[in-house]
Amino acid sequence: MGYKDQIDLSKLPQHIAIIMDGNGRWAKEKGKLRIFGHHNGVVSVRDVVEGATLLNLKYLTLYTFSTENWNRPKLEVMAIMELMVGTIHKEIKNFMEKNVRLNAIGNLEMLPEKCYNELNNAIEKTAGNTGLVLTLALSYSSRAEILRAVKNIALKVQDGELKAEDINEDVFENNLYTHGMPNPELLIRTSGEYRISNYLLWQIAYAELYFTSKLWPDFRKEDFYEAILDYQKRERRFGMISEQVN
Ligand code: FPP
Repeated sequence: MGYKDQIDLSKLPQHIAIIMDGNGRWAKEKGKLRIFGHHNGVVSVRDVVEGATLLNLKYLTLYTFSTENWNRPKLEVMAIMELMVGTIHKEIKNFMEKNVRLNAIGNLEMLPEKCYNELNNAIEKTAGNTGLVLTLALSYSSRAEILRAVKNIALKVQDGELKAEDINEDVFENNLYTHGMPNPELLIRTSGEYRISNYLLWQIAYAELYFTSKLWPDFRKEDFYEAILDYQKRERRFGMISEQVN
């Protein structure tokens, strides 16, 4: 029996977030340029998105490009942007067939115009789809997202729209890029690194963390299913004791 058939669909997480890491090392191991790794990373993205739709997962959020990634060599940044433009353009048909709604979070204004336009076009075209919400975290930093929320809330207080004593977790979440989405229950990171790297810091407060040594271009839907199975074996207590949650 494959991993997929062992998954208990009644206990499926609603939201899975992934830190796709290891493209560069994968390419280096093969004596190729880093961009070769990113190209093969797209193959993994396609396969995992398909895996998610086969399970009827509600939300999948991929760390595609961090704010810090802008500091990479210019040629690599340009190549990733070009790859994104081409991939998003090509994938629209597939998203429509699979009922996937594309979404993006991050400081999108920093993206090159062509990339920004292609992304918005795909977001608009898929806006009516009711299946998987596929969110790309692009030019994303969780600390920047939190600061942005704090500033938005401060402005509302300043303008008299909100009282300081009424600020609570719901108000805060409504000011994050991810407003309206459930928090991820499972966070997967590939490539054997045990870090969160400024990703969804508020949102993963209670997420189960899953680390695998596989490099992202080697990660496929079977690996994704294996991570979900591992998640399903864990007991989520949210600070309570075992007897309370069972
Ligand atoms: C991390 O590997 C990967 C990235 C920073 C880029 C990820 C982008 C893609 C897979 C393209 C996705 C495109 C779409 C449209 C979703 P790394 O370069 O940090 O690898 P390393 O740690 O081995 O150097």
